Amino acid sequence: MLSGTALPPDELDRQLSSAVAAAAGGGGVVGVGFLMPFLDVTPFEAAAGAAPLVECFYGDPDADLAQRAHDAGALLSWQVGSLDEALRAVDAGCDLVVLQGTEAGGHVRGASGLVDLVSTARPRLEVPVVAAGGIGTPARAAELLAAGADAVRVGTRFLAATEADVHPGYLAALVAADGDDTTITEAFSGGWPNAPHRVLTSCVTASDADPVTRSVICPTRGFTGDITSAALYAGRSVGAVTGETTAAAIVEEFAAALGQR
Ligand SMILES: Cc1cc2nc3c(=O)[nH]c(=O)nc-3n(C[C@H](O)[C@H](O)[C@H](O)COP(=O)(O)O)c2cc1C
Repeated sequence: MLSGTALPPDELDRQLSSAVAAAAGGGGVVGVGFLMPFLDVTPFEAAAGAAPLVECFYGDPDADLAQRAHDAGALLSWQVGSLDEALRAVDAGCDLVVLQGTEAGGHVRGASGLVDLVSTARPRLEVPVVAAGGIGTPARAAELLAAGADAVRVGTRFLAATEADVHPGYLAALVAADGDDTTITEAFSGGWPNAPHRVLTSCVTASDADPVTRSVICPTRGFTGDITSAALYAGRSVGAVTGETTAAAIVEEFAAALGQR
């Protein structure tokens, strides 16, 4: 998944063309995600015309967007935090839903643990279901597939991929952390209120101690602020981050353990 939020149209087009071309070589598929509080319909429609899947997160499921995605030739996915929101996504015309549990890194939509959410929601949904949140190991992925998920989403593990634009200090903090070293907070809400997010507890402690250094920016390699006080997003899956490796190696680790599907 590429992020389509707040990218200039030319840059989204460049990233998407290069990802679609790279994925085609390996039989992969690329989708583009949009955050509803910042949605601009023009890049959404452009992405839906160029990628087979677009996805929305953090806003009410919207039938008009489903129509626009379908008219442009894409499937629409919606990442949700509850059964109620999943049912509304299906009613709006979504082709699949991503059920996100509170274990997830980054912004957290709902209030349920992932196994409970998948077990409760799966029988009520007639569309494919992807489980997201705290999945860092093949064993955890297998648990969610056994609970009824059709697929899993892995987020935090890929922060430690060689290809990820992640600041070395952020990477080191991820490697050192365990799931219990994360917390859900609203400490980094500047510009996006009422949206709890799971981060490393250390960045909440550091930025509470010295609020002037607090940065809502998730630090990439070029970040120049105080790394300890920046928004260090991490899921409970962070315990499975043990060092830098390629994205392909992470995928292979899961595929080998679960069997190619
Ligand atoms: C650094 C980071 C950035 C994220 N950005 C987005 C985003 O832009 N859009 C989105 O829908 N989800 C985003 N997520 C949430 C993921 O879609 C997913 O729910 C989460 O990564 C799953 O939990 P895990 O990190 O424990 O694997 C982000 C997560 C992380 C860790």
